[in-house]
Parts: sequence; C-alpha cells; structure tokens
Amino acid sequence: MKILIIGNGQLGSCAYKILSEKKDKYEIKISGIEGDFDFKYDLINGNLEKVLGDYLPEVIILTAAYTHVDGCEEKPNLSFAINVKGTENIVKFCKTHQVKLIFFSTDYIFDGNHGPYSEDDSPNPLNVYGQHKLNAEKIIKENLKNYLILRIAWLADIKYDNMNFVARLLEKLKNRESLKIVDDQYGNPTLTRNVVENIEVFLDQNLSGTYHISGTEMINRFAYARKIAEIFGYDPNLILKAKSNDFKTAAKRPLYGGMNTAKAKKIPGIKLLNVEEMVYKMKDDIAF
Ligand SMILES: NC(=O)c1ccc[n+]([C@@H]2O[C@H](COP(=O)([O-])OP(=O)(O)OC[C@H]3O[C@@H](n4cnc5c(N)ncnc54)[C@H](OP(=O)(O)O)[C@@H]3O)[C@@H](O)[C@H]2O)c1
Repeated sequence: MKILIIGNGQLGSCAYKILSEKKDKYEIKISGIEGDFDFKYDLINGNLEKVLGDYLPEVIILTAAYTHVDGCEEKPNLSFAINVKGTENIVKFCKTHQVKLIFFSTDYIFDGNHGPYSEDDSPNPLNVYGQHKLNAEKIIKENLKNYLILRIAWLADIKYDNMNFVARLLEKLKNRESLKIVDDQYGNPTLTRNVVENIEVFLDQNLSGTYHISGTEMINRFAYARKIAEIFGYDPNLILKAKSNDFKTAAKRPLYGGMNTAKAKKIPGIKLLNVEEMVYKMKDDIAF
C-alpha cells in the first residue's frame, strides 16, 4: 500500500518510523516543510500535484497542522490558512485522485461542559483551533466518501519524541523542579504509537468514518501528572495543584472534555489504552 504521510511532528514522525519498517506491507513517503523529506510541502501555498509529480499515494495520512492552541487564537488567519484551507487543498487532491484521507481531529471541537463525548454529540468549540478543526472535518465529510476522521487528545510517547507533555514533565521531575498543573481540565491521554497501531487496523479493514481513538480514560491533568511521577518513581509531591484561571492563556480550553471511545472499541483489532497501560508502556521503553 502506497502511503504519503504529510507532516513530521509528534504523530507524523512516529507513524513514519513504525510504518516504514513494514516494508512488505507499506511503501511510505513523508513530506515536511523544510529538511530531509521525500517531498517538501507547505500546507499554505503548496501545490500537492506539482510537488508529488508522478507519485500517487493510495492513502494520505495528514498529520501536519497548526497545533499551537493559543497561537491559533492569536493568529486566526494563519490557523485558517493551515488548518482549514490547507486541509481543503488535500481534500481536493484526494477527491480528484480517489485517495483515502486520514485526518486527525480533537476533543477541542466540544465545549467541555459534560464530557466524555461520543461521535454523535454536537460540537461547540470554545476556541479558534477547535473551530478550525471542526471546519476541516466538515469539508472532508462533504467532499469525500473514503476518509477517516480520527479524534485524539493529549498525545505523548517518549520513545518517539521529547517535545511532548510527558517528556517535558519527566525532565522537570528528574531535576526535582516543582510545577503547577491544573486539576480542572479533563481529557484522554493517548499514546502516539497506539494511534499508529490503530491506523493499521482501520486500513486493514478499509473502514471509513469518524472515530474517537484516544486513550479510554478521562483524567485531569494534575492527576495524570501525579500518576506519571508515581509510575516513573519520582516524587509526586513536586506536582502542585492549580486551576485554569491561575494561568492567562489566549485560548479558552474545554474543562470537562474528553472522549467516549465505545464506537472504536467495538472494531475487531482496535486496542485502546487506559492511563496506567499507556504510562507503563513508556516506562518499559526507557531505562532511567
Ligand atoms: N498533539 C495532540 O495532543 C493532539 C490532540 C488532538 C489532535 N491532534 C491532531 O493530530 C495531528 C498531529 O498532531 P501532532 O501532535 O503530531 O502535531 P505537531 O507535533 O505540532 O506536528 C504538526 C506538524 O505540522 C507541521 N506544519 C505546521 N504548519 C505547516 C504547514 N503550513 N505546512 C506543512 N506542515 C506544517 C509542523 O511543522 P513545524 O514543526 O515545522 O512547524 C509539524 O511538523 C494534528 O492534526 C493535530 O491537530 C493532536
């Protein structure tokens, strides 16, 4: 299967590392803005047809996005250009060439008044990032039949990058720095490699539609951080409780957000993780 991964961030680089090892199953190419990629492609002004030339993938895994939630609030035009128009350009390409599109969305499309949310719940985004991801979902649904919208949350996986929440938290705990973490924002922590493993299951069964494939457990950020500290053997008392109002951020965050994963769990082969399973998988990888 010929797969093009667009974007080399947390999810894109993890997907590339895992899937490109399966040479008997996949032929993987990846694009990024600048650097040593198969293709150089900018979602804002790139012409994908021109960039790809003769190469035609069967599946596009679109991981590139403007993911800085406060940045999207401060620069809504940039967010629109990347997250909405950028996605629309890929949708047009997929429609013309009958390519399956895998797109990643977020629980930030919901207002967080009473999570966890299922795929059938009505979105009501509180911030620009959530609104633009929702706009992109709508464009995909209106134009394509062969698509997957996979909603995820709180991605982390220290085996694959050191930019994520868990990696940064562990660095601080190792240095015995204390830190304040909010206990009023809930979400479903998701192991990045688990998303990739589940993408394979969706591809194997040629499924389409919208699915929540985050971790199974809704937890607040403070409790999540404490659990990480405990499992990795650091002092959990370094983590101090805070409220969202203690921090001034440009974008409002949904508080009681989170996702109900029941629909995805019914698919044979799909394996979603609770918080302990996820954190132990990361601990097993790393010898501290
Ligand atoms: N991380 C999460 O917790 C989370 C939660 C819910 C949904 N998602 C969604 O999951 C997907 C993957 O997220 P992620 O965590 O892997 O994001 P990420 O680490 O921020 O990676 C995003 C990538 O997109 C690239 N990018 C930004 N603007 C671009 C443009 N104009 N053209 C081409 N590439 C561009 C970035 O490049 P530079 O690094 O060079 O800027 C970066 O490599 C995104 O759609 C995100 O919205 C993520």
